[in-house]
Amino acid sequence: MNLFTPIKIKNITIQNRVVVPPMVRFSMIGTDGFVTDTLLKWYEDLAYNQVGLIIIEATCVNKNGKLRENQLGIWDNSFIPKLKELASIGHKYNVPMLLQIHHIGFLNRLNSISTETLDSILDDFTKAFFRAKECGFHGIEIHGAHGYLISQLNSTLENNRNDKFGGSIDNRMYFIKELLRRTKVLFDDNFILSYRMGGNEPTLEEGIKNAKYLESLGIDILHVSSGIPDPSFRSQEKIVVPQNFNFDWVVYMGCEIKKHVNIPVIGVRWITEEEQASYLIENKMLDLVAIGRAMIGKPFWIKIAKENYIKRKDADQKSSKIKINGRKIF
Ligand SMILES: Cc1cc2nc3c(=O)[nH]c(=O)nc-3n(C[C@H](O)[C@H](O)[C@H](O)COP(=O)(O)O)c2cc1C
Repeated sequence: MNLFTPIKIKNITIQNRVVVPPMVRFSMIGTDGFVTDTLLKWYEDLAYNQVGLIIIEATCVNKNGKLRENQLGIWDNSFIPKLKELASIGHKYNVPMLLQIHHIGFLNRLNSISTETLDSILDDFTKAFFRAKECGFHGIEIHGAHGYLISQLNSTLENNRNDKFGGSIDNRMYFIKELLRRTKVLFDDNFILSYRMGGNEPTLEEGIKNAKYLESLGIDILHVSSGIPDPSFRSQEKIVVPQNFNFDWVVYMGCEIKKHVNIPVIGVRWITEEEQASYLIENKMLDLVAIGRAMIGKPFWIKIAKENYIKRKDADQKSSKIKINGRKIF
């Protein structure tokens, strides 16, 4: 198995192990939250170059949940036609595209938010899921990381609510469980669900518990990023990573979580070179690798990676022949 080995999730074949993670392209979007032609061009360039999977950037379920003014929206049907154009790019190039669904949440004040407000955001998420399916995407990614709404709900640090949305792990997962119950009908074999989670929510041990819980709910892919860190850790040192682990701490969490679940895991952060990506896949440390910033300005990253991979394997083969025969044969 290597970086270019396909992986099938339900009926959907991902042609290689390289994922473009969600990245909000604020400068390409207006304050109305609609898909623009510049944005279509960015995603078309990625699809044309045949990355494995594209996760479209955080798309907001309501006007009040945006990160910034210039963020994609999906809070009413007027967004559907342009999002349809975006989804059609995935079908044209046979590159699956998931739409990331997001709400910023209420960091440091989640406990003071009324049950009715959270119920109403749950309705917004439900409608957003139905719209995403109507647009023709291959699936959805729930943005459950980076300290936004769902990360806050999952967090033992942030969520001390005493209604149905808080308390035990069952209650902290209530929002997701209810969302999945209401949208179960959408998830046939041609529509997949990824969940971007905080591996440290706030610790890796909690992250592993959450990952297993999410697997038991029927999530198809886990995409491990960061959550709301334990404040007792210094900012640059959010979890303890063994000294001999040669990748970023977020990648480490992905690799650890993969050991505890049976569904495919995407790892991410500072994976920039083909050799790094290949190492993680060939050693079965991750199922898929996400390449974010290294793709910006270089949507052809995957093409260069393939050339590099072939050169490297050729060189390896030559040097192993030399070794086997004990003398130079080329
Ligand atoms: C410009 C930019 C926008 C981002 N937008 C999102 C987003 O919409 N949703 C999300 O989950 N992560 C977002 N991220 C985080 C990336 O998906 C990714 O996890 C991060 O950049 C680390 O991966 P990298 O080192 O390969 O870039 C964003 C990152 C950048 C740099």
